[in-house]
Amino acid sequence: MPADDPRTIRLSDYQPYSHALDRVELTFKLHPTATRVLARLHLAPNPAARTGQDLRLDGEGLRLIACAVDGQAVQPSLDATGLTLAAALLPAGAFVLETEVEIAPEGNTALEGLYMSNGMYCTQCEAEGFRKITFYPDRPDVMARFHVRIESDLPVLLSNGNPVGQGVGWAEWDDPWPKPSYLFALVAGDLRAHPGQFTTMEGRDVGLNIWVRPGDEGRCAWGMQALKASMAWDEKVYGRAYDLDIFNIVAVDDFNMGAMENKGLNIFNSKAVLASPETATDDDFARVEAIIAHEYFHNWTGNRITCRDWFQLCLKEGLTVFRDQQFSGDLRSHAVKRIEDVLMLRARQFREDGGPLAHAVRPDSFVEINNFYTATVYEKGAEVIGMLKRLVGDADYARALDLYFDRHDGQAATIEDWLKVFEDTTGRDLSQFKRWYTEAGTPRVSVAEDWADGVYTLTLAQENPATPGQAQKGAKVIPVAVGLLNPNGDEVVPTTVLELTEAKQSFAFKGLASRPVASILRGFSAPVILERSVPAAERAFLLAHDTDPFNRWEAGRGLAKDVLARMIVDGAAPGADLLDGLARLAFDEALDPAFRALALRLPGEDDMAATLHAAGHVPDPARIYHARRALHLALAERLAAGLPELELACRVPGAFSPDAAAAGKRALRLAALGLLARLDDGATARAAYAAADNMTESFGSLAILLDIGAGQAELADFAVKWQGDRLVLDKWFAVQVAAAQPDNVADVVRRLTARPDFDWKNPNRFRAVIGALSGNHAGFHHASGEGYALLADWLIKLDPLNPQTASRMSTAFESWPRYDADRQAMMRGALQRIMATTGLSRDLSEMAGRMLA
Ligand code: PHE
Ligand code: ZN
Repeated sequence: MPADDPRTIRLSDYQPYSHALDRVELTFKLHPTATRVLARLHLAPNPAARTGQDLRLDGEGLRLIACAVDGQAVQPSLDATGLTLAAALLPAGAFVLETEVEIAPEGNTALEGLYMSNGMYCTQCEAEGFRKITFYPDRPDVMARFHVRIESDLPVLLSNGNPVGQGVGWAEWDDPWPKPSYLFALVAGDLRAHPGQFTTMEGRDVGLNIWVRPGDEGRCAWGMQALKASMAWDEKVYGRAYDLDIFNIVAVDDFNMGAMENKGLNIFNSKAVLASPETATDDDFARVEAIIAHEYFHNWTGNRITCRDWFQLCLKEGLTVFRDQQFSGDLRSHAVKRIEDVLMLRARQFREDGGPLAHAVRPDSFVEINNFYTATVYEKGAEVIGMLKRLVGDADYARALDLYFDRHDGQAATIEDWLKVFEDTTGRDLSQFKRWYTEAGTPRVSVAEDWADGVYTLTLAQENPATPGQAQKGAKVIPVAVGLLNPNGDEVVPTTVLELTEAKQSFAFKGLASRPVASILRGFSAPVILERSVPAAERAFLLAHDTDPFNRWEAGRGLAKDVLARMIVDGAAPGADLLDGLARLAFDEALDPAFRALALRLPGEDDMAATLHAAGHVPDPARIYHARRALHLALAERLAAGLPELELACRVPGAFSPDAAAAGKRALRLAALGLLARLDDGATARAAYAAADNMTESFGSLAILLDIGAGQAELADFAVKWQGDRLVLDKWFAVQVAAAQPDNVADVVRRLTARPDFDWKNPNRFRAVIGALSGNHAGFHHASGEGYALLADWLIKLDPLNPQTASRMSTAFESWPRYDADRQAMMRGALQRIMATTGLSRDLSEMAGRMLA
């Protein structure tokens, strides 16, 4: 961010809040355009803060009706961001501050604070939305017990904690656990419950509900079973039980993010909780399971122990992502989950870390905190915890976590607190390790090998590239998991974790009979870029023999990237090493189908652009597009003889089940169908579409047909079938943009956005089309610049209504430095046009400014 932005907030400026807040009583009189919020705050001077301070409360867009201290009306001074009561107006000890404000949820299109979605009231308060509901110290280190009364004619009235009373037109809730305001939630609407029940290991009977709009009841069963599985897993693996008598989840159609962990009342984007075989793909099922788990796990990592300030966001997010990744791995396959997570990490986090938006896992300044819910904070934050676990071992990790929960329960903690529990548990000094939290950028690790007198020596060197605002960096602690294979494929040294702590270090392996083949960075043991040119034959050897499933996949990936790069840069033909290796793997029935499907997936276009850029080339999006398709065709031709049989073998008989084994088979079947479509003009995929009884196969075969320029009849059929189903229709919108040829993408987007059902104020629908535009690499980066201009137009249009979503989607421009001068100029031009827009939000102006800096 421009270091001189006057709006910048800094970690180094942290001060404890002037007052302590023990209890809050809120009354909501709901009305679409004139909701009244009455708040009683039980305050006292904070003994840990300077005495005699004024009382400052955050508040935005609130109409103040009344304000009183201990029952006496007072006149606070008001400004655009809050309210101040001079110390002179306040009693020396404890006091009660009462305010009444009026707000208009119906007109709230930003979807932050109290807003309406399809006639239902709901809230989103993280990070700083509570200040749009009432005057309050809206910061996570102020924790209070909430009592909430809701007055409304709507049938279902929900808030955090336990229900303590209800009557006609009202309900009251009490949350015994102190919490910061960002975890507050309220829902009111005509909702139906899908109920469930769970008894904790402590013997507490917990009532579970998934609340949905009438008509969606049939899409809750999967979410409910995922919730129960999450509750059981957190007890078993982390020893953490749920702590209220009720756990509610509500599905909302208009939501900026995936979901939110409000205490006892999680609110979900309906896309992240609703699933049925007819309407959700296997990927959707897996995502729903993971997000339910993520939000549930926050109850301990986030809610019981929260963040002192928003700079510590990774304290709850990195840890909770790590936990949900462990959970998904335990329930499904660790190998497949790891590959998927690394694909995501590289596509989103490495991209962020290598561009103008790079920031540390714990940033030390921001303008708008909503801009820091990033892949770096979440996914790299999770990787850092994975490294910590690898370094200290499983047993010490478990002991450190117990200490963390013990020591900090009920507190708002910091990364220093987190690292201290590991130091106290293990006696390690983690000051060097801490750089992972404070320094941005993806380390590059280079490898040199030496073989002499039966000693194999691996020399690892690390380089930590400069990032915006951080030129100089120290060496990181990098756990590099290594295994050695002998030339006949047997493992001679099992996985060993080398600790690289210096700029350059050598590790010797003695007593080997022959020169080994090294499998380096097994399991992707650190979020680094391994810089190593490996001969194709060695990659092919590892693709065939590596005992580490991640590195086995990685060998194929590296081979595919090398082959593709040569095809793109010098028009080379695809080599036999790759095609033969993939053929062996594709038809190896001893291997997990899900793993085979992943191995057959070619590197994406954006990935290739990044790879070429890193290797000193200027990527040409059109060439990448054509080369990748040529490789796909070559692979189809190489596998041709076995594809029909593979496609048949992967049909899953019987009723649909979303379990990992069945999903893996369907994924492999779709991979086979995609290859076959290159050879039979889509005949097999067309038959698969016609016969499909589940969304995975019907949508998967539709996408395959569109990708080869066919499928118009199926597309029309799909539209008729799913008319009016908002979640499925999002897929219909997205797939057309994703599958459009580069020259047509802008036209397709213009046609789709002109439709009456393109409800651009709904974030899911907006993302379906505009997100797919930036996801279509060759189309977005079309030489005409139309893709850039279209995205900028839509961001400028959305920003006044929903700055969060507009800002988030602007990251499509972060890759501008990779491309040629013309494209750079056009992308920067689009960003400058955004910057020049009057009334631009703080969110989007910070992002555009950082990308241009
Ligand atoms: N805290 C939420 C999560 O990670 C994400 C979120 C952030 C949702 C901000 C809404 C607003 O699960
Ligand atoms: Zn989270």
